[in-house]
Amino acid sequence: MLLTEEETQMLNGNKGPAVKKAMEILVALGESFGAARLVPVNNVHMAGSSVLVAEEAGTRFVEDIRKQGGTFVTRVTTNPTAVDPTQWKDIGIPESDAVLQTRLTDAYADMGANTCNTCIPYLTGNSPRFGEHMAWGESSAVVYANSVCGARTNREGGPSGLASALTGRTPEYGFHLKENRYGKFLIKVEVPLSDMTDYGTLGYFAGKIAGQDTPVFTGIPTTPTLEELKALSAALAASGAVSMFHAVGVTPEAPTLEEAFGGGEPEKVLVFGQAEKEQAEAALNKEPTDHVDWILVGCPNASVQEIREVAEALEGKTVHKDITLWVTTAGAMYAMAERMGYIKTIEDAGGVVVRETCPFLARSRVIAPAKGYRTLTTNSAKMAFYAPGQFGLPTHYGNLQRVMNAAVAGVWR
Ligand code: F3S
Repeated sequence: MLLTEEETQMLNGNKGPAVKKAMEILVALGESFGAARLVPVNNVHMAGSSVLVAEEAGTRFVEDIRKQGGTFVTRVTTNPTAVDPTQWKDIGIPESDAVLQTRLTDAYADMGANTCNTCIPYLTGNSPRFGEHMAWGESSAVVYANSVCGARTNREGGPSGLASALTGRTPEYGFHLKENRYGKFLIKVEVPLSDMTDYGTLGYFAGKIAGQDTPVFTGIPTTPTLEELKALSAALAASGAVSMFHAVGVTPEAPTLEEAFGGGEPEKVLVFGQAEKEQAEAALNKEPTDHVDWILVGCPNASVQEIREVAEALEGKTVHKDITLWVTTAGAMYAMAERMGYIKTIEDAGGVVVRETCPFLARSRVIAPAKGYRTLTTNSAKMAFYAPGQFGLPTHYGNLQRVMNAAVAGVWR
């Protein structure tokens, strides 16, 4: 791989052991993917920020980097952690995780990260610009950044994201190169998409077919909401290893079908119609009974608009006594929603607005049995996809209204 003089000096240790280690990671990564060089980046979203992922070893690795003088030279934001900062005990998060999480988050903050601890950094001050090279982790945010914003990033893991933050570089391969950003196959959407759950269902359907390939959608309305696009992004990256999609007439690199495919032809053409939608919904509904106990809204983390919709659905109602309702969001969204009175409405009804974590990145395999949860009910296709396998809870999956009805009635209808 061709390195500049400055990069060679970093690799030789002239900028300290932390930067040397970071360059070794990036060069090894770049060489394994055939990258010709490194590209400058000034924007990192750090995936390895939950101790559920990092555990003690990963936390010590980050602390050691800090002790070796590691300092971030780029903008850095962090993904959700394993802990709600104020309610962790009440919602069942183990104290050992709270202690370890403080160490990890402090180490990142000490190096210069904005510890926003959310999977929607694009709503909390880290808004990618078109064509910007970045090193982002968190699969749903990667798809959103590449597709909706037109920024350029691969799916970075914790170590490579950390290395980019320390050096301001990332290997130039994959989605950094225009020729790898064209669509591979076409999905004709032939059923109305009326809310973010429908977009999630489409993402689940397409991700299963896609593997790592980039789907191109036609038939998506030209004015989807931000929340619908984030639901689509998240589901694509859950059932598949998708990093990017094109929606013709919607996303910036797909003004036309021809441009979405770079002048080439789709390798295959599929239809997403009523039958496909119903099959996908059925596949995400794994719980055969009407039993409901744990309800989750906010995967990806809820925007202020979503928190508002939950508050409106609960206005004047009470969450059933046997139900725990989590609405997961970022601290910044929480602050705005609090100011608007939405948090109070949800809490008065008996729901909990959880910050900086979610069932996937908190230790749900400990939380669920301790709290007696045996199912998860959600409007998120990503969470419905992961819950059965990752933390052993079969799911009810439906749109927000249906999920809120279950929260009040205490059963799934
Ligand atoms: Fe975000 Fe957790 Fe879902 S990180 S995308 S809320 S699984």
